[in-house]
Amino acid sequence: MKILITGGAGFIGSNLTDKLLAQGEQVLVIDNYATGRRDNLTPHKNLKVVEGSIADQRLVQKCFAEFGPDQVVHAAAAYKDPDNWVEDTMTNILGAVNIVTAAKKAGIKRLIYFQTSLCYGLKPLEQPITLKHPLYSGGYSGGSSYAISKTAAELYIELSGLDFISFRLANAYGPRNLSGPLPTFYTRLTNKKPCFVMDTRRDFIFIEDLLAVVIKALAGRGEKGYYHVSSGSDYAIKELFDATVKALDLKLEKEVEVRPRSQDDVFTILLDPAKTNRDFDWQTSTPLETGIKSTIEWYKKYGVSQTFTHLKQDGK
Ligand SMILES: NC(=O)c1ccc[n+]([C@@H]2O[C@H](COP(=O)([O-])OP(=O)(O)OC[C@H]3O[C@@H](n4cnc5c(N)ncnc54)[C@H](O)[C@@H]3O)[C@@H](O)[C@H]2O)c1
Repeated sequence: MKILITGGAGFIGSNLTDKLLAQGEQVLVIDNYATGRRDNLTPHKNLKVVEGSIADQRLVQKCFAEFGPDQVVHAAAAYKDPDNWVEDTMTNILGAVNIVTAAKKAGIKRLIYFQTSLCYGLKPLEQPITLKHPLYSGGYSGGSSYAISKTAAELYIELSGLDFISFRLANAYGPRNLSGPLPTFYTRLTNKKPCFVMDTRRDFIFIEDLLAVVIKALAGRGEKGYYHVSSGSDYAIKELFDATVKALDLKLEKEVEVRPRSQDDVFTILLDPAKTNRDFDWQTSTPLETGIKSTIEWYKKYGVSQTFTHLKQDGK
């Protein structure tokens, strides 16, 4: 199989690339390294890496024409500067439209997308959130340029008529993850800087559990449409912090400070994974402690020089 992966130098994209190469597939990655790392990808005879932006329509068309992918995994996204709406729009909407139109023209079998659970807005009407939940409940736009642009892209993907699966994700974490609380905790704790945690809760999904379902989708499992990839239970961010302290084998003098969340943040996001459990015969299996340990080991080995967030106040 030939698989084109946008954002393939990022956390999810590069881990998927490794898995597909190990399976004997051919992979073409397009990445502009906005938040991805060059050292996330190891040279391989079946891997071609193109440096550039998916907002560049000519480049996208050239990649499709030369590589001739069977399937596409669209993992590229812009989010690192919440005030840069132009970049978010260029990558997340125009980039997605370029990918979708090229994919249609190429007659690919399936396109896989990773959607943020912020598509449900900051005040979900139910917990856990089911797939019937309307987008952007409460008349509020989702609180960020990232959420708005990612949702517009998802709508274009559906509009295209392509066979697609949009995986709406819980907080993914694991080796190479540089966004969200974990890399920030790691950096601050190892630099002996004071830490605090927000009074929020999140459902965390380890990369291996996420990839297991993506690999099944690439093998043809699952029906066209939307799926939640989540464990179905949430943890307080403080629990994540405590597990990080434990994985680092640290003894702190006092309990970490818990702060109220910022206005563009959401208290809990609990996605109902029932349809995914059923259609993919899948469920998460990595305990939080095990996943955090393996993530911390990667941070220790490769370092964390930068962390990213789509939130305006991440407390740094
Ligand atoms: N990690 C999560 O918890 C999570 C949750 C929900 C959705 N997602 C989605 O999953 C996908 C992968 O996220 P991730 O966590 O691996 O993030 P990431 O930042 O590690 O990966 C995104 C990749 O896209 C690349 N990129 C950005 N703009 C680009 C452009 N214009 N052209 C080409 N490449 C570009 C970046 O350099 C990076 O390598 C994204 O679409 C994200 O919105 C992630």
